[in-house]
Amino acid sequence: MQNKSFSPPNQRAFAARFEAQKIAFGPVVFQCVRYAWKRGVLQALAEAGERGRSVEELAANQRWSTYALKVVLESCLSAGVVALVNGRYALDKTGYCLLSDEITQINLNFVHDVCYQGLFELERSLDQQRPYGLQALGDWSTLYEGMAALPEPARSSWFAFDHHYSDTSFPQIVPDVLATAPRHVLDVGANTGKFACALLAQDASVRVHLVDLPQQLALAGPRLIEAGLRDRVGLYAVDVLDSDKAFPGGMDLVWMSQFLSCFSEEVILSILRRAAAALTPAGQLLVLDTLWDRQRYDIASYCLINTSPYFTAIASGNSKVYESADYIRLASHAGFRLLTVRDDIGYCHSLLRFVREAR
Ligand SMILES: C[S@@+](CC[C@H](N)C(=O)[O-])C[C@H]1O[C@@H](n2cnc3c(N)ncnc32)[C@H](O)[C@@H]1O
Repeated sequence: MQNKSFSPPNQRAFAARFEAQKIAFGPVVFQCVRYAWKRGVLQALAEAGERGRSVEELAANQRWSTYALKVVLESCLSAGVVALVNGRYALDKTGYCLLSDEITQINLNFVHDVCYQGLFELERSLDQQRPYGLQALGDWSTLYEGMAALPEPARSSWFAFDHHYSDTSFPQIVPDVLATAPRHVLDVGANTGKFACALLAQDASVRVHLVDLPQQLALAGPRLIEAGLRDRVGLYAVDVLDSDKAFPGGMDLVWMSQFLSCFSEEVILSILRRAAAALTPAGQLLVLDTLWDRQRYDIASYCLINTSPYFTAIASGNSKVYESADYIRLASHAGFRLLTVRDDIGYCHSLLRFVREAR
């Protein structure tokens, strides 16, 4: 059993109480800071430099009322986003992060545009393991069903979140996928075919078989045609929630990237069993995923752990960001043995390589 704490060692009771208030008012601060960022208040302060600006100076250009500036800047002050020196506001370090750090902006947009309203339904979603918060975005039973039709700005924010995490890993991972010289690769949860394109471009003799929902494959098809790669690709519309639906067989490698976290443990086991059946006896399973226990930095574990409630309230109702031990245990039940683990890929991915257990 691992030991883990995010609290500073020897934290005093008074400091802990302050931390507790930050939780109580978290959504309030979130909205104020977002306003200050989105509406250009933080940018105006960045341009003012160390001297900063008074509320009156900021209000002079009539982009924001004095009232709005006071409300949001005082909240930003409480969060360390801005500092107040002699009646003038200046950007603080956290404010600079908000303005310059892409991953912070992607996370903030994702939380606001995809999760914020739906998270109000977290309690009911946890109790009944159904994504009741999804109603805020559309009338689907899981987010994946509606992904191709997501309304803006949720659509852009979701894809930015998903792609930013996987895109940073894809270039590094292609050699791992080709390491055993597979001729047939099954990409389960292939989405719009981005990884397939990277793989096919790297090795002219490999063929990739894409499994996903029909809505996603409809987007993947044109992308592959445009890239001139369509004749080396098989498209298989499979709803993996239907455990009777087998995967195409004869595969040298099954590849799953950011996929298993979309499902409950029960479904993961069923997917892994079908992956085992799709493989040749010497075939391997590669799982690329964000595992919160395999992170070098607490900041990454923090972001990952707090992505799980999105899976509950919005995405599926019963999935999460898992620990490595969960996947290893379920893979073992499905007839796989862990061969290697490689961490620190992209922002926060780990690659688990499994072989089939001899029967
Ligand atoms: C988080 S995305 C990961 C996509 C891609 N592998 C990557 O690394 O960027 C999860 C993928 O699983 C697919 N998916 C979710 N539920 C599914 C289901 N029931 N059957 C088949 N595919 C599903 C989604 O359509 C989506 O393409």
